[in-house]
Amino acid sequence: MEISVRAPLDMHLHLRDGEMLRLVAPMSAADFAGAVVMPNLVPPVASVEAMQEYRGRVLAAGKEPEFYALMTLFFREYTEEELLRAKETPGFFGIKLYPAGVTTNSEQGVGNMASAEPTLRLMEQLGIPLLVHGESHGFVLDREEEFLPVYRSLAAKFPRLRICMEHISTAAAVKLLDEYENLCATITLHHLLLTLDDVMGDKLRPHLFCKPIAKREADREALLTAALGGHTRVMFGSDSAPHPREAKECCGCAAGIFSAPVALPRLAQLFALHGAVDKLQGFVSDNARRIYGLHVPEKKVTLRDEPMQVPESYRGFGQKVVPLDAGEELGWRVVERI
Ligand code: NCD
Ligand code: ZN
Repeated sequence: MEISVRAPLDMHLHLRDGEMLRLVAPMSAADFAGAVVMPNLVPPVASVEAMQEYRGRVLAAGKEPEFYALMTLFFREYTEEELLRAKETPGFFGIKLYPAGVTTNSEQGVGNMASAEPTLRLMEQLGIPLLVHGESHGFVLDREEEFLPVYRSLAAKFPRLRICMEHISTAAAVKLLDEYENLCATITLHHLLLTLDDVMGDKLRPHLFCKPIAKREADREALLTAALGGHTRVMFGSDSAPHPREAKECCGCAAGIFSAPVALPRLAQLFALHGAVDKLQGFVSDNARRIYGLHVPEKKVTLRDEPMQVPESYRGFGQKVVPLDAGEELGWRVVERI
């Protein structure tokens, strides 16, 4: 069996910088027509200049001149002039808001939502999308649900602001999509596959540890139903978040799952298993293109139900990073990229 996807998009991707960027960017650039690149570098990407320079490094590292790198700015209080400049900058996509300290490199995030409102108002007026890492500081299983009132109040206060709930992990978040037209969401591959039991039910699996952490089976099922059922406001965002192997296999393991090299084959396998291959195109491309009005370069990626051996790790440029499904044999692989 073969599936072709047109212009696959990864709507939430961490590419890092420097040597790690050079190792991982070609993997996403090979399989995807484009991606929304997250700004949580150290220091964060929080100016138009930094964003333009970073985009240059992303494109150079990706080695695919056509790769549609959509860049994000790290949320801070921006002036109208800054936002207007951002809007005119090629490759600018939106602004990513991190509550302070909830995930990797988010220390400079927002501490008090009220202080964010003038910038949000300007973004609404200028049509700049807001992307939100929706977790609070509560107990780990409840962090997303505790954050839902913030989404509600943002969606109600700024009805024309396009708000994306980045990598949702609960049934409650899926349900919230029905309440406000201006909300959409990205869903990762790993939240469609895993529950907390996979992360730590038997042995502790550091390579499956991410924020938000995988939740209960009912949550996974709700996410699956949305993705496989063709929900029009959910989009694929891998949240592929590479960390050097020694930062994962240690005491104080960093949060993040590196899924970029297996994302499309594993999605094809999952959609085929559930008899939903006709919904893959919407999930990995069409929904995002429609929601954001994107004009993505043509690219067709064909997958076939043949084995793909996933390496134990990817190495290069002095880096070593362990992917999702390391050492496993997947049932699908990419056979053509045109
Ligand atoms: C991400 C990272 O490592 O940058 N980690 C993660 O667990 N998903 C940050 C994020 O998206 O939360
Ligand atoms: Zn992320």
